[in-house]
Amino acid sequence: MSSAIFQVQSFLIVMLMIYGVYNRKIRFKHVKIMKTVIIWDLLLVAQIELTRSAVLKASKVVSNPAILNIHVSLAVSTVILYAFIFYTGNKLNKGDEKIRKWHKPLGFVTLTTRILTLITSNLI
Ligand code: HEM
Repeated sequence: MSSAIFQVQSFLIVMLMIYGVYNRKIRFKHVKIMKTVIIWDLLLVAQIELTRSAVLKASKVVSNPAILNIHVSLAVSTVILYAFIFYTGNKLNKGDEKIRKWHKPLGFVTLTTRILTLITSNLI
């Protein structure tokens, strides 16, 4: 049951992220949507950890199936990328245009890893 709730949330987060990237030129809308996406996604990670001890299961790298290790790597990469996208996004929002050349590619990499996290979660 909880798995279905996690899957629905994960799908909605990805949809919201795509909507936020689509609105990347409308600054106030983009910033508000993306902050919501990041906070919601971190709350989802917390829910999964608290109900399933995901970190303990994920840490058994040697005995876990390859697809689970790939999924965990993508999920961890996404969370790390959130820190960078948040930092560069805040700077850009404060007028530091030099950071745009980092925020843009980081944004597309983060979007890609998050979509692949959703896809691989369905293959486990
Ligand atoms: C996963 C999260 C995010 C993704 C995928 C993302 C992606 C993008 C992309 C692709 C652009 C367009 C850059 C360009 O065309 O030059 C952009 C612009 C921007 N982003 Fe983000 N972003 C994310 C999160 C954030 C966050 C958290 C903030 C602020 C705290 C932020 C602030 C901005 C600002 C201020 C712009 C410039 C908008 C403008 O041109 O006026 N972004 N973002």
